Amino acid sequence: MIGFLGAGKMAGALAAGWLEAGLVEPRQILAADPSPEAREAFSRRTGAVAVEDNAEVARQVETIVVAVKPNQAEPALQKLRGEIKDAHRLVSIAAGVSTARIEKALFDGVRVVRVMPNTPALVGAMAGAYALGRWAKPEDAALARELFSALGVVFEVEEGLMDAVTGLSGSGPAFVYLVIEALADGGVAVGLPRSIARELAAHTVLGAAKMVAETGEHPGELKDAVASPGGTTIAGLRELEGRGVRAALMEAVVRAARRSEELGAS
Ligand SMILES: NC(=O)c1ccc[n+]([C@@H]2O[C@H](COP(=O)([O-])OP(=O)(O)OC[C@H]3O[C@@H](n4cnc5c(N)ncnc54)[C@H](OP(=O)(O)O)[C@@H]3O)[C@@H](O)[C@H]2O)c1
Repeated sequence: MIGFLGAGKMAGALAAGWLEAGLVEPRQILAADPSPEAREAFSRRTGAVAVEDNAEVARQVETIVVAVKPNQAEPALQKLRGEIKDAHRLVSIAAGVSTARIEKALFDGVRVVRVMPNTPALVGAMAGAYALGRWAKPEDAALARELFSALGVVFEVEEGLMDAVTGLSGSGPAFVYLVIEALADGGVAVGLPRSIARELAAHTVLGAAKMVAETGEHPGELKDAVASPGGTTIAGLRELEGRGVRAALMEAVVRAARRSEELGAS
């Protein structure tokens, strides 16, 4: 069984993804959330039960996904301290909340896995990573891998790299939305209707991403293969290089990772 503390957007998306992947059935999911609207939306989407009291989840389920907002995670866990036992494992998706903070809110020896998913998890195309807490066991890592690879790609990293993951795959979707919007604007500038330009831009990014992910070829080689001498593509690439797009994207990831570090320290 899988439990959720918080039955909001992410909890609903994760549960729906795991149901779709056949990892669980609705009767094997139990969520808790103080908000009746969130409970109703969760149950409508998943067919699973959502209750008001977190303690009920802890009493019935050993694998608990912490899916509340980051600032709600520690207070919620502190209140639940008496209900969490050695057999439990906590899988937290609360952004920026370290495994040490979760362990401190509970007790020495508690098994914690921290996962950083990204918003495309909402459509089953997640890219993210997980880090193990001090007392997590190999089977906790295996479970995190099984659950989150059903929703996309997931890598195990040292917790010190979670800010870097946040900078790349956490913030990255927003960087790519900006690129898609700009490509669409370019299409409109050369005469395409807005609706067609947006679809073409989104599917061009999707297609290019699939080429990298599925062929395993280096993106530089794929780029060279479509840039014929004196052709259209090299003319556009020259413009991108001249305007520093490569450096800007690199710097965007670095800045986002630094900001994640700062927020975690404050
Ligand atoms: N969205 C993403 O793509 C994404 C990506 C990476 C990580 N995350 C993480 O996922 C977590 C959830 O995000 P979300 O977008 O799903 O948020 P959300 O839709 O606001 O869901 C959180 C839910 O938890 C409820 N809640 C508040 N206090 C609670 C408590 N003590 N016990 C149980 N439930 C409680 C909230 O109710 P109220 O509204 O009444 O407070 C709300 O319904 C966050 O920590 C976020 O950092 C999200």
